[in-house]
Amino acid sequence: MTANSKIVLHHVGGRWGNHPFPRPPAFAGDFVELLYEADIDAIAAMHEAGKDHANELIVIPACLADGDGAHLCRKSCQYRRPDRGAPRRLPQGGICDVGIIEHLFEAYRFDFVVHFAAESHVDRSIRSLQSFLRTNIEGTRALVEAARRAWQGEVGHRFIHVSTDEVFGDLAPGDPPFAETSPYRPSSPYAASKASADHLVRAWQRTYGLPAIVINSGNNYGPWQFPEKLIPLMILSAIENRELPVYGDGLQVRNWLHVSDHCRAINAVIERGEVGSTYLVGGDSALPNLEVVRRICQAVDAELGRAAGTSEKLIRHVTDRPGHDRRYAVNSSFIRDSLDWHPLEQFEIALPALVRWYLQHKDWADTVRTGAYRRNFERQYKGRILGTMSP
Ligand SMILES: NC(=O)c1ccc[n+]([C@@H]2O[C@H](COP(=O)([O-])OP(=O)(O)OC[C@H]3O[C@@H](n4cnc5c(N)ncnc54)[C@H](O)[C@@H]3O)[C@@H](O)[C@H]2O)c1
Repeated sequence: MTANSKIVLHHVGGRWGNHPFPRPPAFAGDFVELLYEADIDAIAAMHEAGKDHANELIVIPACLADGDGAHLCRKSCQYRRPDRGAPRRLPQGGICDVGIIEHLFEAYRFDFVVHFAAESHVDRSIRSLQSFLRTNIEGTRALVEAARRAWQGEVGHRFIHVSTDEVFGDLAPGDPPFAETSPYRPSSPYAASKASADHLVRAWQRTYGLPAIVINSGNNYGPWQFPEKLIPLMILSAIENRELPVYGDGLQVRNWLHVSDHCRAINAVIERGEVGSTYLVGGDSALPNLEVVRRICQAVDAELGRAAGTSEKLIRHVTDRPGHDRRYAVNSSFIRDSLDWHPLEQFEIALPALVRWYLQHKDWADTVRTGAYRRNFERQYKGRILGTMSP
């Protein structure tokens, strides 16, 4: 990012369930890293020049002001590059906390908002929707409204709303990939809540002139991803010789995008995106889930020196998720052509590298897979095991 006196309001929660992350989780954390990598000289210059909040990244975690959670969240913000860049402030409270959000906009006069925060797991949204409605809809409303008030009459701001291709529902085998003009047909409660958020952001853009841009991306993978998501769940289970629960026939096709490619897309949109536009972002690999799990098994076997085929024996087909979308595919030609973005990572190379990464970061994975995670896992998969089925 080339900004020289910009402040990025960076929403990323600090915990999952009751368990704080030891660093900003998933790709929001990678986005922080990308900004620091790109802008380290500019940040240093700002500080030498005595500009207090230059390029400060404000993290708003969903945790309370005191207790262990807050302590660990504070640690999480210092986890990366404590020696580099601007200090990161850590306000307490989530994005639904209108008072805090308004105060922050007033105090820091943000140039950009990158809105990552969400309740994001489809299975949990099927079991219990309340927190999805609150964070994804009410939280988004709190943010767009605060940005609207703070930015009235000013120019140069951007509100980047990070969303998903799941708002478009699913595709039949021969259908063309989703495009910016695809109709919204969300299948899951999670997708419906994200669709509502997208609509709110666009309504605030149209009605109040909020300088907003929506990004809908395909499935992400990469380091630090929370182990409730398919790829880290399967990698860690295979490493630990535990059953690999695959929903239904496992032939649901997903378009995989490396987190670093997504972060570069967000950065391109901040710098060059057109206000009011939507950008769809997808990777180059479309694969059925079962094939992804098999490739993970092969990579784990290779890394651990196990006989070929060992980990695949752990695959168990379990009762499918209700309403499970069969296929997603994303046409990214608009962002490719207009912003000169394209994915750099290749799934075939990045996946084995990711397996190595999780092996090297088992201590982190163990830290986050504590009480609440384990209870959720049990509820989700135990009792659904159907036994090994040939695909
Ligand atoms: N992971 C993917 O494949 C993918 C694909 C497309 C879009 N997205 C979108 O990207 C964003 C990040 O997804 P992720 O995979 O990193 O999910 P995640 O669940 O790992 O991260 C979301 C973060 O938001 C935080 N959060 C939840 N409620 C909050 C609140 N009220 N206030 C502040 N923070 C709160 C959570 O604590 C969590 O850390 C989401 O908006 C998601 O919809 C994800």
